[in-house]
Amino acid sequence: MKKIGILSASMVAILMVAGCGQAKKPEAAAAPAASTAAAKPAAPASGLTEWQMTHGIGPVTERVEIGPLDEELAKQGQAVFEVKCMVCHHVTDRYVGPALQDTIARRTPEYMMNMMLNPDEMLAKHPEAKKLLGEFLVPMTFQNVTKDDARAIVEYIRSVTGKDPISG
Ligand code: HEC
Repeated sequence: MKKIGILSASMVAILMVAGCGQAKKPEAAAAPAASTAAAKPAAPASGLTEWQMTHGIGPVTERVEIGPLDEELAKQGQAVFEVKCMVCHHVTDRYVGPALQDTIARRTPEYMMNMMLNPDEMLAKHPEAKKLLGEFLVPMTFQNVTKDDARAIVEYIRSVTGKDPISG
């Protein structure tokens, strides 16, 4: 028993070291957790995986490609945003919900999309979303957006702010 304990502890150490060395391999075959290990807090007490801590909980379970700004996609995102999100969010100011220019500077695209697609579970389980709920006191509700809508809205927020989401 003891030996197994020591063995797995040293494997964890090796994995962590490996994680630190992989910063240049975004799509590494290694589990996504390994590439984010360096910057993230140790095993979350929330019971979420490291992937979920960084990328949120929901239907977006793979990395979303962020390339050069796609103006057409941003326009599609704007159309959805104006109808479904502006009642609570402005990009540049805090309103019922956070200013999305702050959001894009602190979240991955996957996290943003999972929040759009699965707010109930995010608010129930994700420590970052819970923290914001404690601050804003209004639970964000699902606005019946699709994954494509969510991706387009990320592009719209990029186009307005000139910022890219963080990469995790
Ligand atoms: C009823 C008001 C409301 C609507 C409608 C709404 N949100 Fe939110 N949103 C919030 C609030 C409030 C928060 C902060 C967490 C909480 O209290 O639920 C939030 C959080 C978020 C976050 C995470 C912010 C962060 O910094 O982590 C994103 C991303 C987001 N909303 C995007 C959207 C998008 C895109 C839409 C439209 C599809 C939308 N929201 C519709 C109120 C709303």
